[in-house]
Amino acid sequence: MAFAEYQDEIYLDGLRGVVPGLPVTCDELQPLAEAAIPPAVRSYVAGGAGDEYTQRANVSAFEQWGLVPRMMVSPTQRDLSVDLFGTRLPTPLFMAPVGVVGLCAQDGHGDLATARAAARTGVPMIASTLTVDPMEQVAAEFGGTPGFFQLYTPTDRELAQSLVHRAEAAGFQALVVTLDTWITGWRPRDLAVSNFPQLRGHCLANYTSDPVFRSRLEKAPEDDPAAAVMHWAKTFGNPLTWDDLPWLRSITGLPLILKGICHPDDVRRAKDGGVDGIYCSNHGGRQANGGLPALNALPEVVEAAEGLPVLFDSGVRTGADVVKALALGATAVGIGRPYLYGLTLAGTDGVVHVLRSLLAEADLLMAVDGYPTLADLTHDALRRLN
Ligand SMILES: Cc1cc2nc3c(=O)[nH]c(=O)nc-3n(C[C@H](O)[C@H](O)[C@H](O)COP(=O)(O)O)c2cc1C
Repeated sequence: MAFAEYQDEIYLDGLRGVVPGLPVTCDELQPLAEAAIPPAVRSYVAGGAGDEYTQRANVSAFEQWGLVPRMMVSPTQRDLSVDLFGTRLPTPLFMAPVGVVGLCAQDGHGDLATARAAARTGVPMIASTLTVDPMEQVAAEFGGTPGFFQLYTPTDRELAQSLVHRAEAAGFQALVVTLDTWITGWRPRDLAVSNFPQLRGHCLANYTSDPVFRSRLEKAPEDDPAAAVMHWAKTFGNPLTWDDLPWLRSITGLPLILKGICHPDDVRRAKDGGVDGIYCSNHGGRQANGGLPALNALPEVVEAAEGLPVLFDSGVRTGADVVKALALGATAVGIGRPYLYGLTLAGTDGVVHVLRSLLAEADLLMAVDGYPTLADLTHDALRRLN
C-alpha cells in the first residue's frame, strides 16, 4: 500500500479549492483538540504524572536521533508491512490502549469510532479494559483488521479470567497486560479538579456487563451504580509480581504481551515466563515522572528480547518518530494521545486522518532517504545528535 498517496490526494483536492479539514501535524491538532475535548476528561487526557517532565521528555527524545539519507536507492515502492503474532499487517503502526477514548468522541462512543478507523486503515486498535461500550461491541467494528485486548488485571482472578475469555470469544487476537498501573500515578492536573473519570462511573462497561463482576454485587449496577463503582475501585488494581506470570500465561491461549517494560532484566523474566511479546512504554509519562524517556529504554529492551516482538509507544508524534523507533528495533509503534486528537475533532474521519498523515510522512521519509523496507531500517540508519 502506498501511504504517500495521501499527499497526492491532499494536493489534488487543493486544485478544487479544498484544503484539509484538520491540520496534518500533532502540534497543531493538540491545542484544537484540548479545547474541544469534553470537560470530564480534559485534564485526564492532557495531563501526566508530576510536573510532566517525562511526558515532555518522551517527545523530545526523538530529537536526539537523526536519520541518515541514502542516495541512488530511490525506492519507488516501499513496504511497511509487518508480521505480528502470526498476522501480516499493512503497517507497523497501532493505536495504544486508551481508557476514556470512549468519552473523547463528541457522541460519547469513541471506542466504536476508533474501531471503525482501525477497520478503514488496517491499523490495529488495542482496546482498553476501560471502555464506554463493551468489548464485544468494539470488536464487532474491527472489520478485517485484527484487534488486541488490553487487560488491567483485577484483584479478583475469576473476574480477570472472565474478561479474558470474553475477549477471546469476541475475536481479539492478542492479550496485552498492562503492568504499570496497579496504582494510579500522581497527576496534578486531575488532582486540581478532583476528577478521576472512572470514579464518576465512566468507562466501566466491561465490568458492569460482566457476569462475574455482577455476581459480586448485591444489586445490579443499573439499580445501584454507586455500589458498582465502589466495588470496581476495590478490585481494579492488582499489584502483580513475577509469581503471577504463570497464572497469567495459563488463562489464555492468545499471544500474551506485557506492557510497561523498560528494563532488560524484566524482558528476560517475561521471556522466561513464556510471553509472546514485550511492550516497551512508560504510559506516555502518565504514571511515573521518573525522567527516563521510553525511547531511551528501547534499544536495551530490543537487545534483551532477542527476536521476540517489541511493541513501543510514548511520545510518538510524527512519521519521522515512527521511522526512528523502528530503526531502534521496535517491531511495531503505537500512538496514544495523537489519535484522540483526531477523534475529538472529527470522530472516525479524524482518527483516519491522523493515521494516514503519520503513515504518509513515514512512507515519504523512507522514500526520500532511501529505505525501501522496514528491514532496511536498522540502528545503522541513525546517528545520535547529542
Ligand atoms: C487518556 C489516556 C488514557 C490511557 N489509558 C490507558 C489504558 O486504559 N490502558 C493502558 O494500558 N494504557 C493507557 N494509556 C497509555 C497509552 O496506552 C500509551 O502508553 C500512551 O498514551 C503513549 O504515549 P503518547 O500518549 O505519548 O502516545 C492511556 C493514555 C492516555 C493519554
